[in-house]
Amino acid sequence: MFKRTLVTSALPYANGPVHIGHLAGVYVPADIYVRYLRLKGEEVLFVGGSDEHGVPVTIRARKEGITTQEVVDRYHELIKTSFEQFGISFDVYSRTTSKIHHQFASDYFRKLYDEGKFIEQTTEQFYDPETQEFLTDRNIRGECPRCHAQGAYGDQCEKCGATLSPDELINPYNAINGNPLTKKATTHWYLPLDQYQQWLEQWILQEHKEWRPNVYGQCKSWLDGGLKPRAVTRDLDWGIPVPVEGAEGKVLYVWFDAPIGYISNTKELCDAQPEKYGKWETWWKDPETRLIHFIGKDNIVFHCIVFPSMLKADGSYILPDNVPSNEFLNLEGDKISTSRNWAVWLNEYLVDFPGKQDVLRYVLTANAPETKDNDFTWADFQARNNNELVAIYGNFVNRALVLTQKYFGGKVPARGGLTDYDQQTIAEFQGVKAQVEELLNNFRFRDAQKEAMNLARIGNKYLADMEPWKLAKTDMARTATVLNLALQIAANLSIAFEPFLPFSSERLRGMLRLPACDWSTLGSIDHLLEGHELGEVSLLFEKIEDNAIQAQLDRLARIKQENEDAAKAEELKNWHPAEVKGATTIDEFDKTDIRVATVVECKPVKKSDRLLQFTLDDGMGGRTILSGIAQSYPDPSVLVGKQVLFIANFPPRKMMGIESQGMILSAVDADGKLVVTTVSAPVQNGAQVG
Ligand code: MF3
Ligand code: ZN
Repeated sequence: MFKRTLVTSALPYANGPVHIGHLAGVYVPADIYVRYLRLKGEEVLFVGGSDEHGVPVTIRARKEGITTQEVVDRYHELIKTSFEQFGISFDVYSRTTSKIHHQFASDYFRKLYDEGKFIEQTTEQFYDPETQEFLTDRNIRGECPRCHAQGAYGDQCEKCGATLSPDELINPYNAINGNPLTKKATTHWYLPLDQYQQWLEQWILQEHKEWRPNVYGQCKSWLDGGLKPRAVTRDLDWGIPVPVEGAEGKVLYVWFDAPIGYISNTKELCDAQPEKYGKWETWWKDPETRLIHFIGKDNIVFHCIVFPSMLKADGSYILPDNVPSNEFLNLEGDKISTSRNWAVWLNEYLVDFPGKQDVLRYVLTANAPETKDNDFTWADFQARNNNELVAIYGNFVNRALVLTQKYFGGKVPARGGLTDYDQQTIAEFQGVKAQVEELLNNFRFRDAQKEAMNLARIGNKYLADMEPWKLAKTDMARTATVLNLALQIAANLSIAFEPFLPFSSERLRGMLRLPACDWSTLGSIDHLLEGHELGEVSLLFEKIEDNAIQAQLDRLARIKQENEDAAKAEELKNWHPAEVKGATTIDEFDKTDIRVATVVECKPVKKSDRLLQFTLDDGMGGRTILSGIAQSYPDPSVLVGKQVLFIANFPPRKMMGIESQGMILSAVDADGKLVVTTVSAPVQNGAQVG
């Protein structure tokens, strides 16, 4: 019933480079899907672009001390290049700062406005009286009402993960300049989502039960919670001006204009090359077009509820048929974060692993967070490269080609009569096509790739069982048949892997000198005819050594340390000394006998995770003191040789069966860490402090 497919992938914010999380969550699956459809000869359009409005880009501009335009120019180029380098095969990759988009989004808003599709509402919003600007949620910070961490954002506390609204923050301030905030009335336009509730319930909950459980579930919980009107404008100086008189200083909310970017980017392409792509309306308004949005899970509500309501409000558009959304990919156990630099950036990856785009594509698909959050680890990356790409796929192809080189001068040998085992092998690999198709049609990319890999497994098993290198000693005709079949499997691999590993497929076709690649021929044993001369053989995949992996782990360790230091510095900024205690007297103070001693030995007390046992040279024959600072000194030997201050006249006290003769003085750090006090120059042990 569908004639063509329009595939979109979320427009990434142009506020930083793209990382493996973007690739795994959205762009690789979308690309696999469109490559697959193209291979099948279907009519398909793949639309992408950069999301250049919104607060994230303005924050980045402030941080880097450049203009917002410079930020989006820089990152749009970088992102676009990264996608090209990783073979993400967009038909169009444009940007939301383009003229066409500004005009299109503005007109879109104006039409709905004229038709009375919005409601106008005036509310009190946080306002900085000094800079005279309203603040967006992300630019408001304050104390978290849940965990009481300082510096929580108006929409979220990064410490405890709570979702917040700015009104909940304790002592909210302007994140940029620290100014305290007041409230001021402002008028905005709202899309009355409540009016679309019933329609959405019918359309999603009844008519799209086939959507992924994570997508369906999130929609259901939004709908169950009851939809409320959503503001589609903002007080901001970066974005598309609200095309209404009296709305100066207001722009379209980024989540209003960005998805319209899918449409305006299509228009840009079609207007430029109408012979090739037809009219943009065909892609967006013809019910015979199937629309698929690839997104990450934080985008579900916008693509399943808000954008469809916008399309419905207009009334002339088709709606998405499916919204395959992935969960999140973590990196070495921690959430990927652009602001904390906790990511593997695509541009940096290519510097460290030049030419290895397909390795990353493979690993990210093998580990795709399709049903739950998943973890990317460098150890897994190495293992999948070495044990799967190299040992299974690469090894099979290499053996088939090298043996053909050796016994048949690099020409495809003749296939004679087939044995039962040959027939069985053929049947097995012919089954792969239907399996991969079934999985891809259902957006199950991880399993589909696994199935493609099975083809290489079948090939390896066939060679291992047939042992052509032994056969060649006795039966050249049979050797020819075996290698002929092995080469046909290799040709099939280049087709099966084309959607997943396009660069490797192309190289493999080069080695086989196989020109075209057509999905319908997957499973054929007549790709390569007898006598066909093969090309030059090289390794399809290379082993990745430990040192390359260690370098990545070292980099991450360095970043982790930097982040900890930065967090510490942030905490120190918010630290206030305790109030000074009530008055004392010199006589009171004199009662405490504080002295200097050298640490001779310092070790943890057995069975205690709190106590350290100090052996001190106190100039008076030595003494033992227990101190509850083990948590602060994971390696207590660093204290040996240091001169420390201790109270000499506390009555002895037994702990864990050991007598402690006094107390070592420590300062308490902002984060509760204890730091042992020392003297600024050597003095004799036993010297008094006062
Ligand atoms: N920029 C958004 C993000 O990275 C995604 C925008 S998708 C679009 O989360 F539909 F709005 F374009
Ligand atoms: Zn919190």
